[in-house]
Amino acid sequence: MAIQLIATGSALPKRIVPNRELENFIDTSDEWIYTHTGVRERHIIENEETTVSLGTDAAKAALEMAGMQPDEVDLIVCSTITPDCEVPGCAPRIRQLLGVTRDIPALDINANCTGCIYSLATARGLMETLGLETALVIGSDTLSTITNWEDRGTCILFGDGAGAFILRRSEEEGILAVHISGRNDDENVLVCNWPIPETPFYPAKTPMHTKLYMDGHKVFSFAVGALIDTIQYTLGQAGVEASALKAIVPHQANARIIKSTARRLDIPVEKFYMNVDRVGNTSSASVPIALDELARSGGLQSGDLVLLAGFGGGLTYGSALVRWK
Ligand code: UT7
Repeated sequence: MAIQLIATGSALPKRIVPNRELENFIDTSDEWIYTHTGVRERHIIENEETTVSLGTDAAKAALEMAGMQPDEVDLIVCSTITPDCEVPGCAPRIRQLLGVTRDIPALDINANCTGCIYSLATARGLMETLGLETALVIGSDTLSTITNWEDRGTCILFGDGAGAFILRRSEEEGILAVHISGRNDDENVLVCNWPIPETPFYPAKTPMHTKLYMDGHKVFSFAVGALIDTIQYTLGQAGVEASALKAIVPHQANARIIKSTARRLDIPVEKFYMNVDRVGNTSSASVPIALDELARSGGLQSGDLVLLAGFGGGLTYGSALVRWK
């Protein structure tokens, strides 16, 4: 079945938190954060904003771009590591808030910052298996809720947001290649655990890291290697040269990771779309927000080839080569 990515959307919390605001509670500076990460500011939720509300707003924007009504959606896949609650998942809640009246499948995916690529692969597979016409794929995360705001080595990186895109069955193939993979995180370089309350059967368990813990150096070197591997693999699968790409939309974890990947692949860094300065690392939302910005700013014309690529906890990584509709 041929499938195209036909529309994108995104939503960011209203509140913008510049680096200078972090100086109020950790020993850091705007200059250190910018030179080590490329981040100038991030958006942080307040009031009623949640992973579900942001995901719903991003989905509405994508539906509007596609000229579709909520009841034309046949499947919803939402990638997140920060769901509003355990039951129900975010995707079923978003289905409800969008006002979908038909019974359709809606499920969450947890693949960390590669979540949007994993979700694209899942949605594409389910569309084929179930013979569906359309799928709404959402990446939404509120990392501020699991960030350790006392750890200056990690909290400077993260932000909140949501991105979405719509897949539709088509005559021409628009998803030219997809690659998802993962490697054991034997050293626990990226972890966050829930505390478990006491039950009649076992005592309470308080794990070491109830907020996001990251070994920055180890994640950095994994990230560059994984990005290089997956970009090369996907281009190879599709038989496409990097020079034919209009843009690469990588996970926005750190500008230095992106620049280092570009250098080692010998691809001009200008080809890598970056918004990490304004958005920070929004995990599942990172790639779809960046793709939406690129599309809405007129950066993609019909027929352009764009490569989406991510990596993250798990340790997951993957990429997808898309021909813009
Ligand atoms: O999506 C999840 C994937 N996550 C990532 O991709 C993150 C990958 N890792 C990174 O982006 C980088 O490793 C960090 C941004 C987390 C850290 O940057 P770094 O250049 O590796 O810094 P560092 O940890 O080597 O620290 C250098 C120095 C240290 O001081 P000393 O020991 O040299 O005196 C740190 O204590 O900078 C210090 N430092 C800070 N100083 C001011 C660490 N964080 C800060 C800070 N402000 N926020």
